[in-house]
Amino acid sequence: MKPLLGTLYLLGMLVPWGLGDARSQAQHKQEAMDKTPWRNLETYPYNRYHPMGEIYQWMSQISEKYTEVVTQHFLGMTYETRPMYYLKISLPSNNHKKIIWMDCGIHAREWIAPAFCQWFVKEILQNYKDNSKIRRFLTKLDFYVLPVFNIDGYIYTWTTDRLWRKSRSSHDNGKCFGTDLNRNFNASWCSIGASKNCQDLTFCGTGPVSEPETKAVASFIEKKKEDIVCFLTMHSYGQLILLPYGYTKNKASNHEELIQVGQKAATALKAKHGTNYKVGSSVDILYATSGSSRDWARDIGIPFSYTFELRDNGTYGFVLPEAQIQATCEESMAAVLSVLGDVYEKYWYSNSAGKRTSATIVLSLFVSFVHLL
Ligand SMILES: *[C@@H]1O[C@H](CO)[C@@H](O)[C@H](O)[C@H]1NC(C)=O
Ligand SMILES: *[C@@H]1O[C@H](CO)[C@@H](O)[C@H](O)[C@H]1NC(C)=O
Ligand SMILES: [Zn+2]
Repeated sequence: MKPLLGTLYLLGMLVPWGLGDARSQAQHKQEAMDKTPWRNLETYPYNRYHPMGEIYQWMSQISEKYTEVVTQHFLGMTYETRPMYYLKISLPSNNHKKIIWMDCGIHAREWIAPAFCQWFVKEILQNYKDNSKIRRFLTKLDFYVLPVFNIDGYIYTWTTDRLWRKSRSSHDNGKCFGTDLNRNFNASWCSIGASKNCQDLTFCGTGPVSEPETKAVASFIEKKKEDIVCFLTMHSYGQLILLPYGYTKNKASNHEELIQVGQKAATALKAKHGTNYKVGSSVDILYATSGSSRDWARDIGIPFSYTFELRDNGTYGFVLPEAQIQATCEESMAAVLSVLGDVYEKYWYSNSAGKRTSATIVLSLFVSFVHLL
């Protein structure tokens, strides 16, 4: 395909079906046209940070190339009317599958997070045919990945202010901008570790789920919650695996299990490049927060809910050099696969070596039957 034709074709793919406002769509097309050179998926550099236009293109390309396993879905519009899409990775099957949710980039400046979501998708797609573990996960699980949650904020960090954190909604008649989307969920909203002053970094919004981005994600998760077994939200920095809660010192009913699964993930992570992570509830090992997506996900009944705070531990902070993307993604991939392995075992009772005696098969059928009740 000629580069220009390819670009036009891909831009066509970006336009969400059935949405109004042709003017703003034309405007976004123009934006993408100005800022994003054509990139071939084969040479897409996963060890670089990418502006939003390139990430949009990457999503279209990846769902075109792996049509049998990836589809791109519209989730909602951002405050500045940009479309939010998630990728669904799913092998065709007659099984009723459970869902793993992963979002990245709810905080605009945490660039390593969207880089990881893209890395994760790439790894699954490049390996699911030959890697028996990933293949086995995909017989029971679908992965839903939102590579950039806070698209308006992410673009703002590329154009204007590298350290912008919040969304870009306007408040107090344009006196201040942005809501902290990870204080805007309906989990003890704005009770602690959040601010009602729109100038603050942790501004919780004008009410629970007041922001279009939060609304899009929350209503989608709410609809699918019976099937979602694991909710992962990727941030930086601090090298932490955080579990509920941030808004209370009370423990989740499965706290011990959350800790064990988290610690096993931290061990798998460390085995890659020696990086140390801490595991614990947000209120215990980081700080108190209310209105986070992780706490909300656990409150609506999703059993495994974690925030990952990726590298580093303060040397570069949010401005993690590109030279560290690969190692960060490799070790984080090991951690996420460890979590998925534990979730898989819990629900389907298979051992990771794949050796199953007929007795354990019978047992696992029995166990999955019990879980279906
Ligand atoms: C927030 O959750 C409570 C239940 O905990 C519910 O009564 C309320 O309607 C929710 N609010 C929004 C805006 O979703
Ligand atoms: C990060 O650095 C701080 C301060 O030096 C230290 O207390 C903490 O243990 C470190 N965290 C990890 C996960 O290494
Ligand atoms: Zn964050």
